[in-house]
Amino acid sequence: MTRTALITGITGQDGSYLAEFLLAKNYEVHGLIRRASTFNTGRLDHIYADPHTPRNRLHLHYGDLSDASALARLIAKIAPDEVYNLAAQSHVRVSFDCPEFTADIDATGTVRLLEAIRETGVRPRFYQASSSEMFGKVQEVPQKETTPFYPRSPYAAAKVYSYWITVNYRESYDLFACNGILFNHESPRRGETFVTRKITRAVAHIKAGLQDKLYLGNLDAKRDWGYAPEYVDAMWRMLQQDQPGDYVVATNETHSVREFLEVAFSHAGLDWQKYVELDPRYQRPAEVDLLIGDYSKARAQLGWEPTTRFAELARLMVDADIDLLRSHREGKARVTA
Ligand code: NAP
Ligand code: GDD
Repeated sequence: MTRTALITGITGQDGSYLAEFLLAKNYEVHGLIRRASTFNTGRLDHIYADPHTPRNRLHLHYGDLSDASALARLIAKIAPDEVYNLAAQSHVRVSFDCPEFTADIDATGTVRLLEAIRETGVRPRFYQASSSEMFGKVQEVPQKETTPFYPRSPYAAAKVYSYWITVNYRESYDLFACNGILFNHESPRRGETFVTRKITRAVAHIKAGLQDKLYLGNLDAKRDWGYAPEYVDAMWRMLQQDQPGDYVVATNETHSVREFLEVAFSHAGLDWQKYVELDPRYQRPAEVDLLIGDYSKARAQLGWEPTTRFAELARLMVDADIDLLRSHREGKARVTA
């Protein structure tokens, strides 16, 4: 029987990869999208454009995590087997500028969705996009499922609420609800203002003679960077288990922003030190200095393992941005893999 999934945040990096992943598994996929003044389905358009993809099984619905009644109506109408809550104001730096909005979407939005599920009586399996940012000022190295949280931003504080409300609905209402505690994951579809994509996009523009400088903040921060298409597989695996649980998804490697610069620029034959300048606007009031995840539980229980490692990830993103810029200059619209 065809299974039905609802993805909030389907227009984002992870949402678009998850939609493809579930369509390939013959799911009927529904996505929540926001009304915007410009098109915001760029990461999904290739699904509709490709005659070989099952586009008649992808359905988009207007809504917003701030709109509880719309969420309840949608859950009742679709009656999904699985709900993936990926929607969020996902930028940590921006959360310091918009803390209240971030709390409304990233924290209260989750309980709105869980209440919509509870009130309608539909019993889907539920995935919450939790984050390694919750570990913040880390209390243990590497971080695992039992490591205490110490959030360092309005974004992380909101995600801690969503983590615990997901656990609470599991324990209170016997909902099959899971938290994926995902460490940073990137791809050619990564938003342009996150540091990896900002760098690889700049490499492409500098190489083409279209940009002179790249302005960045803290180059010493270390992150555990993985490849987004592999991480959506882990999300799905969590919802296929006999019992619900919470899982760290990571690579167990950590690298600094400076190391990412070195790999990305040198891949294009450039010396990053000639182009990068520091700009305090990109510093955060409180920083997360070091993240590195222990994914042993995901490996043991989900059979999940990361494949794409740091240097390969940086290089594939540079290649994709060079390719994308070339297509734009040749006037060809194209969606990144
Ligand atoms: P992303 O590219 O920023 O996508 C966020 C999605 O949320 C977009 O589809 C966005 O819609 C949607 N959204 C934002 N506000 C909304 C609202 N009020 N109502 C409905 N939809 C809204 O993020 P991502 O990298 O794919 O990450 C997916 C999720 O995983 C997020 O919850 C993020 O916090 C979390 N996470 C990400 C990482 C990572 O490294 N990528 C790691 C851990 C956790 P628009 O397209 O209209 O803006
Ligand atoms: N964005 C950005 N822009 N970050 C910069 C810059 C810059 O110009 N310069 C240095 N950085 C540093 C940040 O201070 C941070 O330490 C690191 O680069 C990574 O920043 P981001 O790429 O913005 O990601 P993030 O780690 O803050 O958050 C991402 O990962 C989380 C998981 O740990 C986001 O995807 C979150 O949504 C996600 O939860």
